[in-house]
Amino acid sequence: MNAKAGALPDIDVEEFRKVVRTRRSIRRFKNEPVPDDVLADCLELATLAPNSSNLQPWEFYVVRTPELKTRLAEACLGQNAAKTAPVLIAIVARTDTWRNHARRAVEEWPEEKLPPIVEKYYRRIAPIHYNQGPLGLLGVAKKAAGYVVGLSRPVPRGPYSANEMKVWATKSTALAAENLMLALRAHGYDSCPMEGFDECRVKKLLKIPRKGLVTMVLAAGKRAENGVYNQQYRFDRAQLIHYL
Ligand SMILES: Cc1cc2nc3c(=O)[nH]c(=O)nc-3n(C[C@H](O)[C@H](O)[C@H](O)COP(=O)(O)O)c2cc1C
Repeated sequence: MNAKAGALPDIDVEEFRKVVRTRRSIRRFKNEPVPDDVLADCLELATLAPNSSNLQPWEFYVVRTPELKTRLAEACLGQNAAKTAPVLIAIVARTDTWRNHARRAVEEWPEEKLPPIVEKYYRRIAPIHYNQGPLGLLGVAKKAAGYVVGLSRPVPRGPYSANEMKVWATKSTALAAENLMLALRAHGYDSCPMEGFDECRVKKLLKIPRKGLVTMVLAAGKRAENGVYNQQYRFDRAQLIHYL
């Protein structure tokens, strides 16, 4: 076994299935707090989500104080999930932290020896790959170059613009959000991801930096008896899963 991977524990898939199958979007919560240690563990598990180049382009704004929570719930359009949850967490994607994080990835490398290929990636490749330049002009040039080179061999097709950087950061952040929801469930707590909110108001209220994108506001707590509004259903998998 690869020493770096460590010994893998036995895993009971039925326990995982229970976590996944019992996670529901909960619209009403009990008036019961989420213990600090549970919340901290769930947030730590959230940050273990896979993420692009390990640049960890996310931030979590945890709101528990009643006054701020009430105002945040209003910014979440007064949704019941937001109004009744003991904790609201704004899950934010950052398109502007990659440079600092690329530097830290090298400085905080967890092993004694930094592999040259890793150093090259963070010091030379990432600064070009994620930098779109003033007015996005470097992105346009990279896209054009990629188009030409791409005629003869596979090349990365982005991110080549500010909008593509938003997608880039949001992908990884959404994975962290899912980890957070599943971690809460595994601890016996519940959640509701919400994109129904006024982003301008949420950002102003929580003092989220200008370039932060509020991917979701997550309501978290213990589900109330009437917290699940309807039976869970999904479309026919045969139409959505393509085996090639
Ligand atoms: C990105 C995203 C945004 C969502 N926004 C809201 C929302 O604003 N309000 C809400 O009640 N549910 C919201 N949901 C929950 C979905 O409605 C829910 O996941 C879907 O209906 C499936 O139900 P389930 O989560 O119980 O399986 C959102 C889910 C996601 C992933």
